[in-house]
Amino acid sequence: MFRNSRLPSFRLGNARNQTGRIVCIFGFALCMLTATSRKQALSADEATVQPSTVLAAVDHRHTVSLDGAWHVIVDPYGNGLYDSNGKAQSAGFARNLAQTDSTGPIEYNFAKSPTLQVPGDWNTQRESLMLYEGPLWYEKDFEYHKAPGKRVFLHIGAANYRSYLWINGYAICEHEGGFTGFDCEITQALRDGNNFAVIAVDSTRLADGVPTLKTDWWNYGGLTREVSLVEVPDRYIDEFDLHLKRGTRDEIEGWVHVVGAPAGSEIKVTLDKDGQTTSLTAKTEADRKAQIHLVDAKLQLWSPEHPVLYRVILAAGEDRLEDEMGFRTVEARGTQILLNGQPIFLKGISVHAEAPYRTGRAFSEQDAETLLGWVHELGGNYVRLAHYPHSERMTRLADRMGILVWSEIPVYWACHFEDPVVLGKAQSQLSEMIRRDRDKASVILWSVANETPATPARTAFLTTLVHDVHNLDSSRLVTAALLVRAEGNTKIVDDPLGDALDVLGTNEYIGWYEHTAADADHTQWDIRYQKPLIMSEFGGGAKADLHGDVSTRWTEEFQANIYEHQFVMLNQIPQLRGLSPWILMDFRSPRRLLPEIQDFYNRKGLISEDGHKKKPSSFCRRPTRKIPSGTLSNCVLLQPRFPEVLCCARLQPEIL
Ligand code: GCU
Repeated sequence: MFRNSRLPSFRLGNARNQTGRIVCIFGFALCMLTATSRKQALSADEATVQPSTVLAAVDHRHTVSLDGAWHVIVDPYGNGLYDSNGKAQSAGFARNLAQTDSTGPIEYNFAKSPTLQVPGDWNTQRESLMLYEGPLWYEKDFEYHKAPGKRVFLHIGAANYRSYLWINGYAICEHEGGFTGFDCEITQALRDGNNFAVIAVDSTRLADGVPTLKTDWWNYGGLTREVSLVEVPDRYIDEFDLHLKRGTRDEIEGWVHVVGAPAGSEIKVTLDKDGQTTSLTAKTEADRKAQIHLVDAKLQLWSPEHPVLYRVILAAGEDRLEDEMGFRTVEARGTQILLNGQPIFLKGISVHAEAPYRTGRAFSEQDAETLLGWVHELGGNYVRLAHYPHSERMTRLADRMGILVWSEIPVYWACHFEDPVVLGKAQSQLSEMIRRDRDKASVILWSVANETPATPARTAFLTTLVHDVHNLDSSRLVTAALLVRAEGNTKIVDDPLGDALDVLGTNEYIGWYEHTAADADHTQWDIRYQKPLIMSEFGGGAKADLHGDVSTRWTEEFQANIYEHQFVMLNQIPQLRGLSPWILMDFRSPRRLLPEIQDFYNRKGLISEDGHKKKPSSFCRRPTRKIPSGTLSNCVLLQPRFPEVLCCARLQPEIL
């Protein structure tokens, strides 16, 4: 692709061989129209693709923000991206050329093109782009002065769905996956002074994508989270794992990885709480990792009641990385979930990354504060972030607010489970999700899938992901939201994947998609695994402010009635350890087309997209005499049928 181009050669990231051969980054097939990424794979003769990486705690690194207005070109046919053979090329818009006498006709001009805001999906920024799915180009000029001995990465918080990055016309990297951040080294491509970045983002849904073609959320496209330049020294910390050792209250274990550090390099880890510090030094081994075992007898543990965060300082040679972390243990023992060795009940709700009030993909601090503020208002200590990793602002805020988190990758419905390429995509999204949020005390559950058909290929696919999680992060629990089969009025949880999971998640919609609300009262649950169970989805829809009797669908009363009866049923499930009804707030979905009711919104929220609290959510805010407010179990809705036993006594027996 590049070899015949007239571009001056440059060396890519850590491809430091002297040949000066351009490491071709990527070749792409004009798959956009064929909706599979198969042809996108590099043809044999293209050079190796330089994978992007994920820099740990990048939001605590020195960065130069590139957020703000970017020039954009909507390119529905990928005219500037794909050549006639369907291969992505750098000879198109990536060069950002200006018309001169010597050039042929240049049929684009970023400088004269309109702008869109970054971060932000393009759909809600311009009416004409609301339904747009396809390639769109971003261009931004920026000033940068190289500092000696520094390496520079381009950090992308998220780009939906496939993205291709150039700096000053040089190809840098590519990425597939719309909800995980990534970092690409640009040191070699940068100039001292004026530079320009060109990023093509293609939101085309792919049959062999993760997610696949069909979802129940809006396919918001674009650079949906922050973009910045990140500076690190020549040898730098790119990844670390520090967590409280299970069964202890004072032993922090883990490792710190330093890129480029020869064995025997010293690193120092310091925990600082209000000036009280505990430190440890350790040496890297051949794998550039230093193993950590730090004992802090005064360690304060993180919990929803006490979301204590430490300043954690990692120093390795020239590099110094600060982070804010809490320390807690989480484990499953029998049917119990134990937080810091104590049984816990996850009183929560599911949330999509839909921005309250302004709609579109949520990304801002304000979005996070509003959404998690509502979770606290409902008395929740837990949130299921569905169905993909949400912004890091959400998990950072959850750390500070003491809200436990279920984080998930979008292996959703009928992915191509028999396809190893698709498994590879899911594995890289999983690793990116874990690498970004491994340092978040709030995150206790990694979910590998939602509502996937229990075929052998799927179970093998997901079991591989479960093993990956355990290899990547031994300190958290793995779960998935399972479909449940029924025989008569018995729900049977015997999905073969249950064997591999630490915690079972089950979705059911009694009273909405199946049966009547009251049928829940007599529904038995036959759970074939002695593991903790979370009811990861239940509920029904209502148009805000539409009122009527409990049997009139779409009214708030109909929705509330479903919840009333759900709690009768939930109260009868002995191993229930958490719940996250579907869903906190109404969210956009291209599958929801009922006029005057849905209008492209899934209406199962307890709160509408403009903040109207529907009937079920108001039950929760009225405190009662008997139990202090702020716990979900004080919900009048729950109260009559949700005795305290669920909150405390019954949780204890197995432990004693
Ligand atoms: C499913 C699915 C959700 C969807 C919900 C619904 O269970 O997991 O993504 O939005 O049902 O139908 O509303």
